[in-house]
Amino acid sequence: MNQKQLVGIEAASYVSDGMIVGLGTGSTAFFMIEELGRRVREEHLHITGVTTSLQSKVQAQKLNIPLKSIDDVPYVDLTIDGADEISADHHGIKGGGAALLYEKIVATYSKEVIWIADESKLVEKLGKFPLPIEVIPYGSKQLLHFFAQKKMAPTLRQRQDGEILLTDSGHYIIDLHLGQIDDPKAFGHWLSQLTGVVEHGIFSDFVTKTIIAKGHHIITTDV
Ligand code: 5RP
Repeated sequence: MNQKQLVGIEAASYVSDGMIVGLGTGSTAFFMIEELGRRVREEHLHITGVTTSLQSKVQAQKLNIPLKSIDDVPYVDLTIDGADEISADHHGIKGGGAALLYEKIVATYSKEVIWIADESKLVEKLGKFPLPIEVIPYGSKQLLHFFAQKKMAPTLRQRQDGEILLTDSGHYIIDLHLGQIDDPKAFGHWLSQLTGVVEHGIFSDFVTKTIIAKGHHIITTDV
């Protein structure tokens, strides 16, 4: 069993009957969703899933996990999601899979948020991983120019075929190559007030538990 599978299956064990569960996005969350699908099928677990991307929605539908929109539930009991970087003080970068907007919306209305990752995602400070910013297409070239002037080395994310990548809500992603983010909260606030920015990939004050694979072991930490 690989590390992503290990933490995905472990995290799914925190889900109990009747819960409304936020289903994250990415190659680690994939294994958590598969395990929940298995539990729904084999253990008759009753849950309602709230997906954070089209990708997770398609997977959950195939597994017959009952789904609702975030707007059709009063709250989410527990969201389980991956991360691109997790700092020593539990800030995170998310959005490597371009799902940061829905991921942040679902996390915002969740009572508990578990991040699952392999040890490669742990960093002292955020910023080595390019920071995804979801932006409105109109004016995005101006934003690219603005970030370039600030020496943030922005790139407009493309699909493998070279076309501009569109998020599930039809926006673009600009990745900022920053190297290090000293004050993630303050930087996130600065990004949020820029015209044309829909959301940024810094997640502060969301996570309540991390489940990290180190070698063959699982380290669970309450935040
Ligand atoms: C998607 C995300 C993912 O959670 C993040 O990119 C981690 O993905 P993976 O588990 O594939 O490494 O934020 O937008």
